[in-house]
Amino acid sequence: MKNKLKVAVLASGRGSNFQALVRAAAAEDYPAEIRLLIVDNGEAGALGHARENGIEVRVVDCGKRRGSMIPEASQEMYRLCREREIGLVCLAGFMRIVKGRLLDEYEGRMINIHPALLPSFRGLDGQKQALEYGVRYSGCTVHFVDKGVDTGPVIIQKVVPVEQDDTVESLSVRILKEEHRAYPEAVRLFAEGRLALDGKRRVVIDYE
Ligand code: GAR
Repeated sequence: MKNKLKVAVLASGRGSNFQALVRAAAAEDYPAEIRLLIVDNGEAGALGHARENGIEVRVVDCGKRRGSMIPEASQEMYRLCREREIGLVCLAGFMRIVKGRLLDEYEGRMINIHPALLPSFRGLDGQKQALEYGVRYSGCTVHFVDKGVDTGPVIIQKVVPVEQDDTVESLSVRILKEEHRAYPEAVRLFAEGRLALDGKRRVVIDYE
């Protein structure tokens, strides 16, 4: 397949969602290719997966403040993406709020995966928040990134039951399985140009 959408993934840790995207993109008929992995630390497990798959990696120093990024980092990430003609930026367990140049330039072309059914349980530890609240169902959400924290328009959600004896770990495993289905699906929809914003909030999917 020609003219695949070029994707950059931003990650901070284990990288299982990054791997799920790489796996999906290995299919000949998948409309996107993973061109670049950007991490904010040299320990990120995602780095190993990228190297095994021959994907370019960059470590960008985002500053010492947890959850935040310095303007220079945002500028640098934007430069890396622009130079490679990246058409979509995917946050996959990237534990910093994206702001500055990268968001300014890529808003509408940047998506995130969150381990809860938004708008419930935004921010850190979505699975723990859901368990503590006592909901019967949770899941994951892929959404566009905007200036808020996990507030952008929803693209795909997958639901899982919460069992009586669940721990944060067991619930996280159940949700993660769905994340690995949802993220490649969302990237495919974006790459095929099937996502449109109806007004400001609602994403309309063209299923043909
Ligand atoms: C995933 O569960 C993802 O949804 C979550 O971090 C994990 C990363 O796992 N993201 C957030 O909580 C963002 N707010 P991975 O590194 O194996 O993909």
